[in-house]
Amino acid sequence: MTLLTPRPDLWSLDPEVLHLNHGSYGAVPTRTLDRMAALRAETEANPMRWFRTVAAQLTTSRLELASFLQTDPDGFALVANASAGVTAALATLPIPAGSRLVLTNHAYGAVRYAAERFARMNQAEVVVVDVPLEADDETVVELIEAELDGAAVLIVDQITSGTVRIFPIAALVEVCHARDIPVVVDGAHAPALIDAPAADGADFWSGNFHKWPASPRATAGLVVAERWRSETLPLIVSWSEHDERMPERFDMQGTYDYAPWIAAPESLRVLADLDWPVRRTQLSAMLDEGAKVVAKALGTGVAEVARSAPTMRLVELPSTVDLSAGEALKQRISRDLKAEITFTGFDGRGFIRLSAHAYNSPQDYESLAARLPGVL
Ligand SMILES: Cc1ncc(COP(=O)(O)O)c(C=O)c1O
Repeated sequence: MTLLTPRPDLWSLDPEVLHLNHGSYGAVPTRTLDRMAALRAETEANPMRWFRTVAAQLTTSRLELASFLQTDPDGFALVANASAGVTAALATLPIPAGSRLVLTNHAYGAVRYAAERFARMNQAEVVVVDVPLEADDETVVELIEAELDGAAVLIVDQITSGTVRIFPIAALVEVCHARDIPVVVDGAHAPALIDAPAADGADFWSGNFHKWPASPRATAGLVVAERWRSETLPLIVSWSEHDERMPERFDMQGTYDYAPWIAAPESLRVLADLDWPVRRTQLSAMLDEGAKVVAKALGTGVAEVARSAPTMRLVELPSTVDLSAGEALKQRISRDLKAEITFTGFDGRGFIRLSAHAYNSPQDYESLAARLPGVL
């Protein structure tokens, strides 16, 4: 198999910096930035004319994004981010007083806050299921199933942020639906890392295009099962309030910058030109090696994650590193080492979470390995 060449030339990222954290805020290729700049120039040439064209342009974009996810376009709405998608889902589901909102200790912090808000509003309670990092899929399902009595909803990550593991969504949907419990999937990291990520029959799925598909920020999708479509409302009340079509209801959210949503499919074309499925496999292999190189330099190891996301790895931090000072340390690494990485913590263990995208090369991880031991 031929090795694909790293393509930092397709991005405008600062070449002086090691960009090893695509997983947090993504990075947008210049081709998409150019498209977005053209759209904004068009807007400013005649705002009135522009806003007359937005609805039709959003339809085109939405259909392309739905097709990328291989999902039914009638159940696919645009939202600003995965947080908004999960919030809209929780705002739709019935949450009886005294019921439980079940999630796991891998859940993203902001999503847990959303669950806590909706629990408070409905006199319900949040239940957090402890799932060990190394638990296999069967154990994950058993542990969660044991906490489903009285559940109004299961909220589960498809790919966890702090622990980069893939959860067995299809099996969890099956056990929940057998008890008539709705499932909300936080698929923030799933687009472009999992093919057809919304195909497991969850009641709601939300995922970001501004992470791995490298679309402009504030571009995400909400996939809603047929059963809930008529009731699912956007978080912003606007002129589309009485539109009976679920996706269209989410399109026009008042006066807003729609350029990112309209430009988003350009990044999907960039991925296609990058031979993405093949590249993703190669990035995974490169990152396996890269993470080992960094771990070796630190005298630690690469965390054993049961089913790891293809383009993220966890390198154990030396026990001397205090994660409560993690933010300051990240800033020092950014300023002094010119490297962008992030830390995560789980079960009292600290990790560096490393990412790989098409602009990364093996040398990036070697450079990090050479620089990091001086500061950690
Ligand atoms: C698992 C998970 N859920 C939700 C989010 C929130 O995404 P956003 O900030 O786009 O709403 C993230 C962001 O990193 C995430 O990793």
